[in-house]
Amino acid sequence: MSRTGKRLALAMAAGAAAELAGLGLIGSAAWLITRAAEQPPLAALSVAIVGVRAFATTKGVFRYGERLAGHDVALRAQATTREELYRALVPAGPLNQRGADLLSRMVDDTDAVQDLLVRGLLPAVAALVTGLAAVTLGLFLLPAAALVLLAGLLVAGVALPSGVAAITRRRSARIAPARAELAARVADLLHGSADLAAYGATDRALAACEEADARLAVLERGQARVNAVAACLGVLAQGLTVVGVVLVAQTSGAGTVATAVLALTSLVSFEPVLPMAAAAERMTGVSAALRRLREVRATPPAVTEPERPERVPGGPLTVEVENLVVRHSPGRPPALNGVSLTLTPGRRVAIVGPSGAGKSTLLAALMRLVEPESGTIRLHPLASGSDSDGPPHRAKAREAGSDGTSHHADARGAGNREPGVDLREVSPDEARRVMTGLTQDPYVFQASFRDNLRLAGPEAGEEEMAEAVRRARLETWVERTGWDTPLGEDGRTVSGGQLQRLALARALLNDPPVLLLDEPAEALDEETADALMADLLDATRGRTTLLVTHRLRGLEEVDEIVVLENGVVVQRGTHDELVEVPGYYRDLWRSEALVSRR
Ligand SMILES: Nc1ncnc2c1ncn2[C@@H]1O[C@H](COP(=O)(O)OP(=O)(O)OP(=O)(O)O)[C@@H](O)[C@H]1O
Ligand SMILES: [Mg+2]
Repeated sequence: MSRTGKRLALAMAAGAAAELAGLGLIGSAAWLITRAAEQPPLAALSVAIVGVRAFATTKGVFRYGERLAGHDVALRAQATTREELYRALVPAGPLNQRGADLLSRMVDDTDAVQDLLVRGLLPAVAALVTGLAAVTLGLFLLPAAALVLLAGLLVAGVALPSGVAAITRRRSARIAPARAELAARVADLLHGSADLAAYGATDRALAACEEADARLAVLERGQARVNAVAACLGVLAQGLTVVGVVLVAQTSGAGTVATAVLALTSLVSFEPVLPMAAAAERMTGVSAALRRLREVRATPPAVTEPERPERVPGGPLTVEVENLVVRHSPGRPPALNGVSLTLTPGRRVAIVGPSGAGKSTLLAALMRLVEPESGTIRLHPLASGSDSDGPPHRAKAREAGSDGTSHHADARGAGNREPGVDLREVSPDEARRVMTGLTQDPYVFQASFRDNLRLAGPEAGEEEMAEAVRRARLETWVERTGWDTPLGEDGRTVSGGQLQRLALARALLNDPPVLLLDEPAEALDEETADALMADLLDATRGRTTLLVTHRLRGLEEVDEIVVLENGVVVQRGTHDELVEVPGYYRDLWRSEALVSRR
């Protein structure tokens, strides 16, 4: 038997023993009191006296043991379930897409595992053992009374719980959606409070919330009534059974002692049986929770972890994307449809294109957050000796950057390049160590500025942090607000521009071999955006960088511009080349120039 199995068996045995001791206590006490009334010699009572003492003491000990062993096994099972859930989730990629629902599964549904053991299985075993023991005792004393007891126990322990479970199952089909609806409305109310207030929609949202609350309350009251009625019926069954047992005992001429023992043991044998109705109600919830947990565990991961992951060699890297096709969900058109692109060390490539063109998807594929349907992403280290001096990915860039005028420039490296590593053979963590940076939706944690920055470089010293802050042009702001001022939940105390700069500082501090930047100037006003882009182009000079942007100003500086539309590359070249030819780039460039002239 496994260790869990042993712990569970121990808990079950202790629980059953505690109930049996309770039964023994009442049985021997009833016998003792009624027998003592007949005033026998004291010696005739001594066994019963010892029995009462022993049962009373051991009941407590067993109960304590049951609680200890039961909760131990239940909490361990819960911890294991949570761990399994984490393991199932980690390869599934970024969690925020399923945030609230997932959190509730993580917290509430794993609680159900604990309930299943502590409130379901263990009490059921104890009830079964106690019921059987009481009926067996009855069979020895008076079989007819034992049959009455058996019938009563079956009503309270089997019929009632089954009835409650059937009704609850039907009701919970309505309660669960009502509860989800209320949760969604409350979440909208909280997260959308600013928008609701802006459009005067707060009252309507509140009313909708109250309606959802009222609907849920009606359903829950109904369920509470079911539980209350079941509890009453249980006690009624208990009372009637005891009366029945006494009547049967009297009509069949059983003595006072036997009648008392039968009546009291019958009464007590219901104690572990009565909670079974409430347990049945809880167990329908538990089975739904377990089903939801199974669903999470069965979710296929967004990217597959290679069995024997390859290491990406240190030093400068060339990233070669070939014919990449990425589809976010089956049946939908691909977000990237055959994109090829080469990023050689030290070069900066910009991706531009209309919204929904697939720019962020390309970065997601590079960060190994989505699995490509076909095509490859390969990482080539430079052959040793071909470019040996100078610090890693930065300095070398300068040479490469100065000559790289077209996307063919990388071909020059092909001769002295090693075969390279397919990104699919690299673990997602390793991929993000090599290629990462600023995501389109940077998050600010409820922590100090320092901690928010340090996230990207836990080992960074004060010097490096200050350097990243300086390069992101944040130093005035940081000096004013201080390194240790909390930034508030979701960065509420931070302006849009400061947020983007903080995100940029993080990316610079992390300093990956290949820096990815998704819309660093998004949501900023013209002037701030220009300033940020200028700073960014300054800070990334000589770094291998892939920059996604809506704004063309400053792109004269990058080595190649790739125009994506509908998941395909429609134009590529340098700024000077692209403004010469008609197309998306020139149109956008002209309209930007018009705007800025105004
Ligand atoms: N997680 C996702 N699930 C399903 N479809 C997605 C997902 N992410 C993106 N898409 C779809 O893939 C396409 C490309 O999206 P992507 O985010 O790459 O565009 P983008 O070029 O970055 O746009 P933007 O400039 O607005 O950021 C879009 O049609 C989008 O609806
Ligand atoms: Mg995007």
